[in-house]
Amino acid sequence: MSSPVTEVPLPPPLPTPDSLMRVAIEAAEISGLIQVRNLKRPLKIKTKGESTNLVTNVDLRCEKRIIAHLKRYFPDHEYIAEEGGRGRQTSLFRWLIDPLDGTTNYAHGYPAFCTSIALERNGKIELGVVYDPVRKELFTARKGKGAFLNGVRITPSTVEDLEEALLVTGFPYDIKTSRRNISQFNRFLLRTQAVRRDGSAALDLCYTAMGRFDGYWEFSLAPWDLAAGSLILTEAGGKITTSTGREFSIHRGDILASNGPLHAAMLRVLRQKEGAPRHQT
Ligand code: IPD
Ligand code: CA
Ligand code: CA
Repeated sequence: MSSPVTEVPLPPPLPTPDSLMRVAIEAAEISGLIQVRNLKRPLKIKTKGESTNLVTNVDLRCEKRIIAHLKRYFPDHEYIAEEGGRGRQTSLFRWLIDPLDGTTNYAHGYPAFCTSIALERNGKIELGVVYDPVRKELFTARKGKGAFLNGVRITPSTVEDLEEALLVTGFPYDIKTSRRNISQFNRFLLRTQAVRRDGSAALDLCYTAMGRFDGYWEFSLAPWDLAAGSLILTEAGGKITTSTGREFSIHRGDILASNGPLHAAMLRVLRQKEGAPRHQT
């Protein structure tokens, strides 16, 4: 007599690219709504590490709501978020979340902030969503499928000359002790049309992807600052390396992103030694 057949449960079906994107966009929009609703309300502000590194009740609330939304649809996925949210370690899929990129701006009511959500599959970024709820600008990209702003394809600028370029950068929260990036900032100021410091790494990358900025560099960033924006930039057709020209990784923390034509000139300025004569760039 044969033994009864025991049914082995089937693994859950893999989510489709469309469902992953839809849920990521929903999560970013939920976060954006919280940010806009609370913008004019008093905030509870604390610091993390350096006295300039802020975290508000809105960062925490957004993170909680984003993770809850992702978990509702993808309970088995891993996630890692800036304010401490951590998930399982065993999934093929890992979400990288910056619930509020641009917290200092947000705390001052300066409207340059966003939510950044990316998805890695087997360690490779597959999808990125960056949402600015003030301008209602939604940047999206899927690996190999191009980059979009509110559904319309975006491409970087075609500026070839640093003298005509508008660049952007940022400074780490330990700037007062590390002083990192001040000399690079000075050098670019003297060689370009202008340099901005806008306070949101994810938006800096998206703006470079769509031609508002021509190039962006920064150091000491975290994976959640870079994950979505770096995919959006490369899918738009921009170029990305480390600030020394090495292969880019969201785990290295330093980045040079450009429209492409300006990349070599930006690298030369970044590599220049203090006091070297200008014609060497
Ligand atoms: C910061 C912003 C800023 C960059 C900082 C980041 P946060 O993220 O992206 O532009 O210069 O290094 O830490 O703290 O606002 O999420
Ligand atoms: Ca950030
Ligand atoms: Ca943040």
